[in-house]
Amino acid sequence: MSHFEYRGDSLYAENVPLAAIAAAHGTPVYVYSRASLTENFLAYANACRAHGRADGRGALVCYSVKSNSNLAVLSLLGRLGSGFDIVSGGELLRVIAAGGDPRKVIFSGVGKSREEMRLALSHDILCFNVESIPELHRLNDVAGGMGKRARVSLRVNPDVDPKTHPYISTGLKENKFGIAFEDALDTYRVAAGLPHLEVTGIDCHIGSQLLDDAPLLEALDKVIELADRLHELGIMLHHLDIGGGIGITYDDERPVAVADYLSRLFTRIDGWRREQHGGKPIDILFEPGRSIVGNAGVLLTEVQYLKHGATKNFAVVDAAMNDLMRPAMYEAWHGVQPLQRRDDAGKLYDVVGPVCESGDWLARERRLALAPGDLLALMSAGAYGMTMASNYNTRGRAAEVLVDGDRFMLIRQRENPADLFALESIPE
Ligand code: LLP
Repeated sequence: MSHFEYRGDSLYAENVPLAAIAAAHGTPVYVYSRASLTENFLAYANACRAHGRADGRGALVCYSVKSNSNLAVLSLLGRLGSGFDIVSGGELLRVIAAGGDPRKVIFSGVGKSREEMRLALSHDILCFNVESIPELHRLNDVAGGMGKRARVSLRVNPDVDPKTHPYISTGLKENKFGIAFEDALDTYRVAAGLPHLEVTGIDCHIGSQLLDDAPLLEALDKVIELADRLHELGIMLHHLDIGGGIGITYDDERPVAVADYLSRLFTRIDGWRREQHGGKPIDILFEPGRSIVGNAGVLLTEVQYLKHGATKNFAVVDAAMNDLMRPAMYEAWHGVQPLQRRDDAGKLYDVVGPVCESGDWLARERRLALAPGDLLALMSAGAYGMTMASNYNTRGRAAEVLVDGDRFMLIRQRENPADLFALESIPE
């Protein structure tokens, strides 16, 4: 269910007219719906429960922090029982600052530094998803130096085509991620032989914005096959980590329902455990991001100028590629909805920002009825929106607001330009 809907001609988030948020906090501003975040998380958690698994017993949903790392979002999800998938020491510190449980944290990524490893070990995180042999050796060293054993899972690359945008597909042979499938057994042998590592799992992630679960289930089959071969070698796994979540609807995409995907997945896993392992259970980890926050957020912006050119009309707005990078970077499509609908057929507009780049566009060829000063919402902007924002053109990053029923709270102040150069200095 969408919590961003028109009532009459005004666009609302839950029970709050979005125009009231723009009036209180200015634009550009990201707005998230608490009800939507909660529902999207519970779609995973409840599907786990329906298969007899809950909150760390049999399954753990580790929300992918990179998709939206605001402390209020992390805190809400943590209180719902979520674990966290992180890719940096900074993300771990955010999870802790938000009151999240570090023992429910898994650490992904190809380039973990020694410092990040030390930080994560000092907080006793659940598991490191390791992506190469040199990383195994480094982690073994760091853990040994601290008198600890690091729990590890190897991220294997199942070479399955996720059929998504090439920039966000990660499980193919040519991607930088993971350990090639044919090298996996040898790499597990290395891991099992290192004294300061404890092999606990297997991990794969083939890409993001997958609409169909067939590639995910194909990857799962390969992972299961590998888990059996490891078992024969005496390497027992405690968990399988299936990677990120299902894609979302930006335009007219029809993603598989989370409950249906998880139901197929658990049916396969339960069947496998019954047939091969006498019913011995194994924990399942998920790392969804986009499907939890994507449709729970919008970016509000104000129309500054309308330019009617010879071949195109431009609506110049106060949000830009530095606020929402996805269109410039992936030619991503985001819906554009006026906060107040007009009774007018409108014109075709390219919605563009003030940044000095031709790539600074947010939407192209949209039929809109506009006047300067109008407010627009860029839809489905909750995931990889604010987290990918930059300060290009010395633009402070947008404010963030959380809506809860008929209330709204500022959860991040707009950045002040003076803050942006506060860390700089001029040599004498
Ligand atoms: N786990 C790993 C190891 C990942 O690399 C990712 C996303 C996720 C989980 C979360 O996947 P999700 O559930 O969100 O599909 N910036 C791009 C998306 C990059 C995704 C990177 N990895 C975008 O704006 O579309």
